[in-house]
Amino acid sequence: MIIENAEGVTPVVLQTMAGTSNARLKEIMEALVRHAHAFAREINLTEAEFEQGVDFLNRIGQTTNDAHNEGILFSDSIGFSTLVCLLNNGSNGATETAAALLGPFWRMHSPRTENGGSLLRSPTPGPALFANCLIKDQAGQPLAGVEVDVWHSSPVGLYENQDESQADMNLRGKFITDAQGRFGFRSVKPAGYPVPVHGPVGDMLRAQNRSHFRPAHIHFLAFKQGFKTLVTQVFVDDDEYLENDVVFGVTRALVGDYVRHDDKAPADDVEGPWYSLDYTFVMEHGLATLPHPPIK
Ligand code: BEZ
Ligand code: FE
Repeated sequence: MIIENAEGVTPVVLQTMAGTSNARLKEIMEALVRHAHAFAREINLTEAEFEQGVDFLNRIGQTTNDAHNEGILFSDSIGFSTLVCLLNNGSNGATETAAALLGPFWRMHSPRTENGGSLLRSPTPGPALFANCLIKDQAGQPLAGVEVDVWHSSPVGLYENQDESQADMNLRGKFITDAQGRFGFRSVKPAGYPVPVHGPVGDMLRAQNRSHFRPAHIHFLAFKQGFKTLVTQVFVDDDEYLENDVVFGVTRALVGDYVRHDDKAPADDVEGPWYSLDYTFVMEHGLATLPHPPIK
């Protein structure tokens, strides 16, 4: 087909893709073309800006490797990951959900840990934290036998895979809920941390004069056949970045009650103030699938 003018490009491209056999792929690609063309029209995209945009995309790929996923970071930092999460959870966006973005630091095969056991695999200074969690279904029934991955940053804001001073799998563990739907663990209170800014996402954040910090949180991934895998984070309520998360992960449901205690701790070796976290997760019926690990 011969293109007559700028207006004519969009229908020609759509017509060319009309033979796509996979109906969902056809729907996605048609919407992508319509929105991409409308975007260029709306902002009168110049050729120099187009080149800069393509270079930005290329650099996202070039900055990605086995230990760092710049594509996810970009999607996170423009709120796209959270949007997709909220559209797909809480009865497809109709109700509040405990789901949140996965982030780049989930690792498969974290060490199986007894209920109430510690996530510390090497000495990790910081205030002790004792977490007691419950998992229920939407009808309020406790869910036994849920496999729960837990992972978080250290009190200086580093995940074990970013920090040579921590043992492999430090501050990571896998729990199984008991007959009452409960699991718990001992750890240290996590700190917030900066997201990596060495790539094009860093350039974008600097150009937008934005903070590149995340508020402190603990990640959870709950898996049980018959239920939609729950990927989430529970945020530390007194964190200075709670209202300014660079990746837009904080929703009301996910602000945890990290209570400071100055009395005797549940373990004899705790010195100084310690924290407790009690949190209840709700899982929806659905498909139990695991995400692709963002890092290997
Ligand atoms: C995280 O929570 O681990 C995370 C999420 C998005 C970007 C960077 C880190
Ligand atoms: Fe995190």
